[in-house]
Amino acid sequence: MQMPEPYIIELPKILDERGNLSFFQNEQHIPFKIQRVYWIYDVPGGEVRGSHAFKQQAELIVALSGSFDLVLHDGKKEIKYSLNRSYMGVYIPQMIWRRLENFSTNSLALVSANTVFDEQDYIRDFNEFLALKNEHL
Ligand code: TYD
Repeated sequence: MQMPEPYIIELPKILDERGNLSFFQNEQHIPFKIQRVYWIYDVPGGEVRGSHAFKQQAELIVALSGSFDLVLHDGKKEIKYSLNRSYMGVYIPQMIWRRLENFSTNSLALVSANTVFDEQDYIRDFNEFLALKNEHL
């Protein structure tokens, strides 16, 4: 079975001498329907967020402000995205291990998801994640 892969999504950017505006909307810029939006902010230096995967949840992550690294593992390899533009998003399909680290001061990570919150959807054990991924290979 072909598993979906993460990829970068460049969002619209409306340039204006009054400042820039970016946006995304259902069925046009992202490959899922948004059910929930949350954001991560005031992260103390050196802290790591995430370090889990989701069975069903897919996401778009954007560095609305500042910068951080998004480190993804698909069960075989790790790939790192350094996010520092408020018009660049990374689409993360279900069943990708992901962590966010190296947050700059005042960084703001916006996460849009295709599910409402469900703790049962989390895989918080990396070995369990690898085992589930390998079942699908
Ligand atoms: P968690 O997803 O583990 O944080 P991160 O992956 O960024 O390190 O969530 C932290 C806590 O917040 C956890 O107790 C679940 C809760 N939470 C909600 O109640 N609703 C939500 O939409 C999210 C994302 C988390």
